[in-house]
Amino acid sequence: MSNRLGLIALVLWLATALGLGALFVHGRTEKAPDGRTAVLMNAAEREMVFSEMRGLLVAVRDITAALAEGDTAKVAKTARAMGMGEAHDKAPDLLLKLPLEFKRLAMGLHGGFDEMADAAAKGETVAGLNSRLIAQLDRCTTCHAGFRIDVAQ
Ligand code: HEC
Repeated sequence: MSNRLGLIALVLWLATALGLGALFVHGRTEKAPDGRTAVLMNAAEREMVFSEMRGLLVAVRDITAALAEGDTAKVAKTARAMGMGEAHDKAPDLLLKLPLEFKRLAMGLHGGFDEMADAAAKGETVAGLNSRLIAQLDRCTTCHAGFRIDVAQ
């Protein structure tokens, strides 16, 4: 009897682990008509992500302007503000809805800003920092080409 309970517990545990694993990889998504993967979230979560996105656009604008002025200290400061320290764990529910590839790109982006800040602080040239910015923009466009956000309760 206790063996059977153990077996049931094991099966339930496995089912939960597999379910969570699948959620971790796929998030809460569906195929969108335009061929991209739609990440499904509620309206408030979408607002939060979009507001962060607009902040990213302002940051790359400010970094571009700082590079044009050769102001690498300002590059470092702006890039750091977009680094891992700013990547939120504020919304654990939302993290579960994001597919693995999306999280990978987002973490790569935040990590890339930290690397840019470190390089700027160590005196990397404007040309070197500009190449980093291009690599960062490639992350923006790769994610935008593959994903969109749709509202679902
Ligand atoms: C991990 C994925 C990902 C990365 C990386 C990413 N974005 Fe986005 N971004 C999205 C998604 C998804 C949308 C929503 C697109 C849609 O629904 O069509 C979006 C939307 C936006 C919007 C529109 C916001 C609004 O209010 O309408 C801007 C601006 C934006 N991103 C800028 C950026 C910039 C700049 C970068 C790079 C520095 C960047 N994003 C990197 C996923 C990403």
